[in-house]
Amino acid sequence: MKSATKRILVTGGAGFLGSHLCERLIAQGQDVLCVDNFFTGRKDNVAHLLKQPRFELMRHDITFPLYVEVDEIYNLACPASPIHYQLDPVQTTKTSVHGAINVLGLAKRVHAKILQASTSEVYGDPEIHPQTESYWGRVNPIGVRSCYDEGKRCAETLFFDYWRQHQLRIKVVRIFNTYGPRMHPNDGRVVSNFIMQALKGEDITIYGDGTQTRSFCYVDDLIEAVVRTMDTPDDFTGPINIGNPREFTMLDLAEEVLRLTGSSSKISFKPLPSDDPKQRQPDTGLAGSVLRWSPKVELEAGLAETIAYFRTRLEPQSRAHSEAADFAELA
Ligand SMILES: NC(=O)c1ccc[n+]([C@@H]2O[C@H](COP(=O)([O-])OP(=O)(O)OC[C@H]3O[C@@H](n4cnc5c(N)ncnc54)[C@H](O)[C@@H]3O)[C@@H](O)[C@H]2O)c1
Repeated sequence: MKSATKRILVTGGAGFLGSHLCERLIAQGQDVLCVDNFFTGRKDNVAHLLKQPRFELMRHDITFPLYVEVDEIYNLACPASPIHYQLDPVQTTKTSVHGAINVLGLAKRVHAKILQASTSEVYGDPEIHPQTESYWGRVNPIGVRSCYDEGKRCAETLFFDYWRQHQLRIKVVRIFNTYGPRMHPNDGRVVSNFIMQALKGEDITIYGDGTQTRSFCYVDDLIEAVVRTMDTPDDFTGPINIGNPREFTMLDLAEEVLRLTGSSSKISFKPLPSDDPKQRQPDTGLAGSVLRWSPKVELEAGLAETIAYFRTRLEPQSRAHSEAADFAELA
């Protein structure tokens, strides 16, 4: 039996993950309202959807209330990379906390089901590896990352209080590092850094000896899990980890990027900064059992797609068009 079309609100829908989610929901035949203040998102990310009658784009800052009729809400609005969320830390906390209050209030009014894009950062600097959802985390409440970590933790609290107090249908997903096309070229993360350096023919910078490991999830795998989480029975709230537990070394990543780009860049090694982010690795057992999900996309295939996207962003006409949104001054 074909299910009825749903009206779905995606906050942060013009961002990296949000634009893929909008695309996916439109492909499923849903009506999608994409709301974004374009702080880190770009109209270009959803330009191809504008001609779809089922897609609407609204400029709005979720720290202000929103009155719309929807059946489901995916709350993704929030800058995600340290470079961006530390630009205006007070606004970052407001987006997480006031934003959550506003979207939860909306969900309560219109009886919508609501999903929060939380983060592995709620585990802070963890004492256990890999992290399971039952781990409460070790977060510094007064550091430079706290605007994001504590904002997201408070948003989770609000979601669970709305669930306990108002019986809202909630889902909380804790997203681990994700990469893919439409990620921000200047977000300071290792995948985008390495690809941009390789494409520009600059040295690929590895901090430390390159044997440290990271795990990254390809965006298509992530979106599949997020949509499946929304579709779980009402008694499932999460939190649920979504990410790729497979780890690879920074040296492996750099060599793979060099091979796939065909770049003649050299690898240069620099001392490990003292605030180098600690390793985080998801335990995805819950996602495996509840969602019947595991990541499928191999690093090579995911990197090839991402490199192809970054190549188009480096073309002169594309660069001129998107410079302001790219925080070019931060590059
Ligand atoms: N990408 C990752 O690896 C990752 C990891 C963990 C969690 N997350 C979470 O997933 C969500 C999406 O992340 P992303 O990687 O797509 O980041 P992104 O920066 O590309 O997307 C965030 C979007 O939210 C918008 N936004 C920011 N503040 C807003 C506000 N006040 N009102 C309306 N829109 C606002 C931005 O303009 C942008 O389009 C975020 O909530 C982030 O915390 C992402």
